[in-house]
Amino acid sequence: MLLVAGLAAGHGADLNDVLKTALYIEPGNFESFAEAFKDLADQTKAKADDTLLQSDAVNARDTYFAAATYYRAADLFLHGNCSDPRINEFWDLQTDCFNKGISALPVPGERITLKANGFKIPAIYYGPSQPVPNVKRPTLLLCEGYDAAQEELLHFNVFFPLSRGWNAITFEGPGQPTVRRNQDIGFIPDWERVVTPVVDYLYTRSDIDFERLALLGNSFGGYLTARAAAFEPRLKALILNGGIYDSHQAFVGQLPANLQALYDAGDKDQFDDLIGEALHSENAPSQFRWDVEQGLWAFKIQAYTIANITDRIRMPTFIANATDDQFFAGQPQLVKNALGDRATLYSFDGAAGYHTQVGASVESNRVIHMWLDSVFNMTSQAVAVY
Ligand SMILES: *[C@@H]1O[C@H](CO)[C@@H](O)[C@H](O)[C@H]1NC(C)=O
Ligand SMILES: *[C@@H]1O[C@H](CO)[C@@H](O)[C@H](O)[C@H]1NC(C)=O
Ligand SMILES: *[C@@H]1O[C@H](CO)[C@@H](O)[C@H](O)[C@H]1NC(C)=O
Repeated sequence: MLLVAGLAAGHGADLNDVLKTALYIEPGNFESFAEAFKDLADQTKAKADDTLLQSDAVNARDTYFAAATYYRAADLFLHGNCSDPRINEFWDLQTDCFNKGISALPVPGERITLKANGFKIPAIYYGPSQPVPNVKRPTLLLCEGYDAAQEELLHFNVFFPLSRGWNAITFEGPGQPTVRRNQDIGFIPDWERVVTPVVDYLYTRSDIDFERLALLGNSFGGYLTARAAAFEPRLKALILNGGIYDSHQAFVGQLPANLQALYDAGDKDQFDDLIGEALHSENAPSQFRWDVEQGLWAFKIQAYTIANITDRIRMPTFIANATDDQFFAGQPQLVKNALGDRATLYSFDGAAGYHTQVGASVESNRVIHMWLDSVFNMTSQAVAVY
């Protein structure tokens, strides 16, 4: 809920829409979550579709963005049953609303598809103003982690660089929402196969300052982007929000000891039986059910470590730590230890202390941009259009 509400800071939701919807959700009841957000999404979309509102492009844009956010929220907990037709239905609705939103931006967001070896990369390019001849801008590349969609990044991280005069490009790779849905490809550990084609694409453009190219990854993206950066020296700065050294340790470390032992022994049948029992017990915590339903076995997690490659990460690196992180506690410090002076470890606490600073986007992006300005030796300028 906080994640959805927090998107209000980046034109992605209205706060009281979300707070009020919470009243209709029963704790632990995934179905009530889906229904409550679907109702809110439908109501919001109906407002956006109103012809009167359409005459005001800013209103239409923000209302479509909110509707898209609520359809994504409605989808969030449906994945326990892959044949639920609402998974695709809600996704099509979110895509449609989001596309109407980005086409109404002062500089419309541009959906592009990049070719990679064995799959396609859906990406969205955003600019702070129309390209001006000979003006090259710092550019932020961004990707999410285990489950979030690139659309969410617009509200979570992208408006912040745009308003500072940066370009931004978001993208998804194997395992992430659209690539899994449309190409049926699960996660791959060698994420440079995703990032290098994105950098290649930027090299075809004339509005990029190649000395100021930074890559940001949220959540499990903290592993994915660190891995990619080790093989992509054209990136000049790296932001890990937060740092992940060894994903196996981080994910499996959240399981009870008996399950960890079965997992490590590769005993999938018994692991599944025990997980099945736990999932159907009345006491299964929602977070745990969700992690597992999302597919712990979907990829071989042992391969997702940067242990062997940290000496290849040469660019300045910002590592976010979060004092209330329920997923990756302790991992950011391990990344810092491995990178030494090349890295800055910053610990978010208090109201910004949750995983990826959920609910505190303004503070999160402020700290990240202060660091970027200092490593790129620049002062970001406020751009009025956003
Ligand atoms: C999954 O969804 C399908 C389609 O709605 C439904 O027929 C089926 O009963 C559901 N399965 C479970 C286990 O809920
Ligand atoms: C790390 O390097 C060691 C030694 O070269 C190798 O045996 C191991 O498989 C590597 N691990 C990963 C995850 O690449
Ligand atoms: C980072 O966060 C963890 C909790 O996730 C906390 O124990 C640790 O002290 C924090 N590190 C720093 C440097 O503040």
